[in-house]
Formats: sequence, structure tokens, C-alpha cells
Amino acid sequence: MDEKVKSIKEDLQKDIASATKLQDIVDIKAKYIGKSGCITDLMKNMKDYSPEERKEIGQIVNNLKNEVTEIISNKEKDLNNEILNAKLANESIDITLPATEIKCGAPNILEKVVEDFEEVFMSMGYDVYDGPEVEEDKYNFELLNIPKGHPARDAQDTFYIKDDEILLRSQTSPVQARVMLSLEGKEPVRMICPGKTYRRDDDDATHSHQFMQIEGLLVDHNISLSDLKGTFDVIARKLFGEETQTRFRPSYYQFTEPSVEMDISCFSCKGKGCSLCKNTGWITIAGAGMVHPNVLSMCGYDPEKWNGFAFGFGAERCAMLKYNINDIRCFYNTDLRETETFDRRDGE
Ligand code: DAH
Repeated sequence: MDEKVKSIKEDLQKDIASATKLQDIVDIKAKYIGKSGCITDLMKNMKDYSPEERKEIGQIVNNLKNEVTEIISNKEKDLNNEILNAKLANESIDITLPATEIKCGAPNILEKVVEDFEEVFMSMGYDVYDGPEVEEDKYNFELLNIPKGHPARDAQDTFYIKDDEILLRSQTSPVQARVMLSLEGKEPVRMICPGKTYRRDDDDATHSHQFMQIEGLLVDHNISLSDLKGTFDVIARKLFGEETQTRFRPSYYQFTEPSVEMDISCFSCKGKGCSLCKNTGWITIAGAGMVHPNVLSMCGYDPEKWNGFAFGFGAERCAMLKYNINDIRCFYNTDLRETETFDRRDGE
């Protein structure tokens, strides 16, 4: 028996020494302590021994089994550690790799310009209105003193949805008519309505079939062109800097009389003349005028008692000037490379 135990131990030492992977441990377990392993075999012929001998042999085999089990499980632990260490070494983090770049968003530049306008006008007591983009001919043209067949319609050719009557609005001015009609000629009006407008245009760097306007209307008693000038002064200084000068030039719109173009002094050259202002020192940013008496009366306001002014800013034009953008298509292409180049001159 002693011989057998000795030789089992020697074999085990050899097997353990040459084990390199977990499968070897599985095999060793089967060979020594498995159901038909050699240690289990030692018990097989027990019936041939006397009871005392059986007791003694049982003890020896048990001790052997415990010893062998411990040796195998120690080796298994060592192998597991080795495997873990090898894995850790392979998977170590390379801290020299550049970090993943997280792109930061920024406010949409058109929305921002619109919000700047809204803030200034609200501070002067104006309400902000919304209006439909799919509009009736009546509001887009007729109530604004542009009857069917009038040549002023040519400049505002748009997309027609149904016959000649339903169209995509070519200007935000129809909201003027809607608001006046809703107030039934009873209350003063002080409103702006920023929004999308559409025209049948061939897109290029300065034209887009979709663009935004910021329309405004004030109707009250004894309003004069100087009230419009004062209002424009406030807007120009707030949005383009305190030193900005303003001027009016005569113009023509069917829904205002007299009509003007509203210019600001060029903020780039301070009025000296440069490429931005085409060497004039001035930049036009809005159309405006005193609301035509026909528009007032068609929209329910008695022109003998009420008068007022209206204006329309181009939102893209203001954004392009303010942020140094030279192609209107940038606003409508969703190309990040373009929008990232905007020079957002905030905090100025
Ligand atoms: N609706 C005009 C346009 O699209 C802009 C405009 C000019 C609006 C004068 C006005 C205004 O309210 O009074 O060209």
C-alpha cells in the first residue's frame, strides 16, 4: 500500500508540474480523485482485508485524497491567477490615446437673432404673434392693398397650394391683417411676428425660396414717422452696437404710405465705406412705412381715428451681417462644417 501511495504522489507531482491550462487540471482531477480515478481504485479490493486493515487503509486513502485534493486546488488557483494577470497585462489602458471628442451644440443662429429682436420689442411693450405659413390670398395680398393683377405681386411670386387662393405666404405682413381683424378696430396694436416665408426664387448665395422675416405693426392715435425712426434707433443700437446711426430712404410698398427703407451705418467700417456696405457707409436691413389708410379700413380700423407704422426685417440678412456669413444657404444646409465656421460675435 505504501508503495502505491508513494507512486501516486510522485505521478501527481509530475502531472502538476507539467499542467499549464485549466483543462489539465480537469484531467488531473479525473485521473486521481474522479469516480474511476486511481485513489478511488485503492478502495476497490477492501473486502479482501480484515476489519482492522480496512480501517487503516481507509485512513491512509482518505489522507491521501485530502492531500491530493489540496495540491490540485492550489495548482488550480495558481493557474487562474496566471490567466488573470496575463489578461490584465494585455488589456491595460493606453492613456496616451486621444480622448473622444464631444461636440458642443450652440443656439441656432437664426433663432438667436429672432430671440434678440423679440427681447427688445417685448421690452417696448410689443406682443409676439404667430401666423399660418399656408395662407389665403386675401391675407397675403388683398387686405394689404395688393389686389389681383397688381404688378406688386410679381416681386412676391410664391408657391400655390390650391388654385389662386391658398399659398405659402410670401411675407409675414398677412399677420398684421389677422391681428387687426381680431382686435376689431377697438384697441391699439403693438405686435411683432417673426416667421418663415416663401418665394418662387432660384436659390443662390443671397436668395432662398424659404427665408424668415420679422414683421412689426403699431397702430394707435397720432403716430408719426418720427415714432418709427425712434423705434428703429433703439433696435439698431441694441442689435448692432450703441454707436450705430440710422437713416430712412424713400421707398415703395403697397401697404404703407409713405414707405421707407431703413438703413444702419456700416458697423464694419463705421460709415467710411467698405465691401460690406458697397462703399456707401450704409446697410439696408428693413422695409417700413406708415400703414396705408386702405389697409387700416379693410382690417377694421377707421383711418380717420387711427394710424400707425409697420416694418419688416429680413432675419437671415441680419444674421448674415451680424455673424459674418456670406451664403444664405448655410442656414438651410445641415452641414456642420459650415455652421461651425459662423463667427458668433456674442457678448458684443
Ligand atoms: N413685406 C415686405 C417684403 O416682404 C417687407 C415690409 C416692408 C413689411 C414694409 C412691412 C412694411 O410691414 O411696412 O418685402
